[in-house]
Amino acid sequence: MYITFMRTIAILNQKGGSGKTTTAVNLAASLAESGRRVLIMDLDPAAAASSWLGFKDANRGLLEVLTEGKNLVDLVQPTAIPNLDIIASSMSLSGAGKALAGEIGVETVLRKRIAKLPADRWDFLIKDCPPSLDLLTINALSAAQEVLIPVEAHIMALGGLYSLTQTVEVVQERLNPGLFICGILACRVDQRTNHSREVVESLHQKFGKLVYKTSIRENVRLAECPSFGKPITMYASSSTGAEDYRSLARELLKRNKQN
Ligand SMILES: Nc1ncnc2c1ncn2[C@@H]1O[C@H](COP(=O)(O)OP(=O)(O)O)[C@@H](O)[C@H]1O
Ligand SMILES: [Mg+2]
Repeated sequence: MYITFMRTIAILNQKGGSGKTTTAVNLAASLAESGRRVLIMDLDPAAAASSWLGFKDANRGLLEVLTEGKNLVDLVQPTAIPNLDIIASSMSLSGAGKALAGEIGVETVLRKRIAKLPADRWDFLIKDCPPSLDLLTINALSAAQEVLIPVEAHIMALGGLYSLTQTVEVVQERLNPGLFICGILACRVDQRTNHSREVVESLHQKFGKLVYKTSIRENVRLAECPSFGKPITMYASSSTGAEDYRSLARELLKRNKQN
């Protein structure tokens, strides 16, 4: 299938440690490996995805795009991975809420900036969100078509899921009618434990087809690869982690709103 329009996917879960950054980078790399042109946008002030890919000091770039109307395209940088570009983040982004407070239309600033990107340059825009439902996250949702929700396969992680889907609904209703959840992804699945299996089953029961067939298994290689500055597809190409993220990429390519 040839994609003519950029698919914009926000990787979202207000809980830290869900696997958002792991999924954003490794899914982006798997799509890039399959020949898709991917732009990853790091919207987390902690900038984990940025430093993983070798971008440690993005200064105030993204903050100025949001608050001073600078051009987003000027922040795009190529990574060492073929087909993968990045818009990096930095700590300064944590000031976005304060800087934008009181302005009109603060929830949709990012959407306006993204609309000016040359959309035919990429097949995918993947946004790594912060672990909160703050203004940055709302901006990420207003400026996305799809939401991918990674969930740690632990009973404690299921609690916030319902309110998360409700937040997505509210944004859809009030700010972005086209927004939809493209899938829920079970992460850190330890197949040796009943607990992990039960959590995945309960996800399927509650959310049905919304849950990806692919689960991301617990794999130490996935935890290691950020320290080596590589995505799993390059750090440990034949690991279960690489297998799982390639499988997710295939599923995501097959699955969209139309089918
Ligand atoms: N499938 C996995 N197997 C092993 N470790 C993982 C896996 N997924 C995530 N991790 C580790 O769990 C931690 C939290 O993941 P991360 O992607 O940073 O979550 P988030 O971005 O949602 O806070 C990181 O240390 C990461 O390396
Ligand atoms: Mg993260």
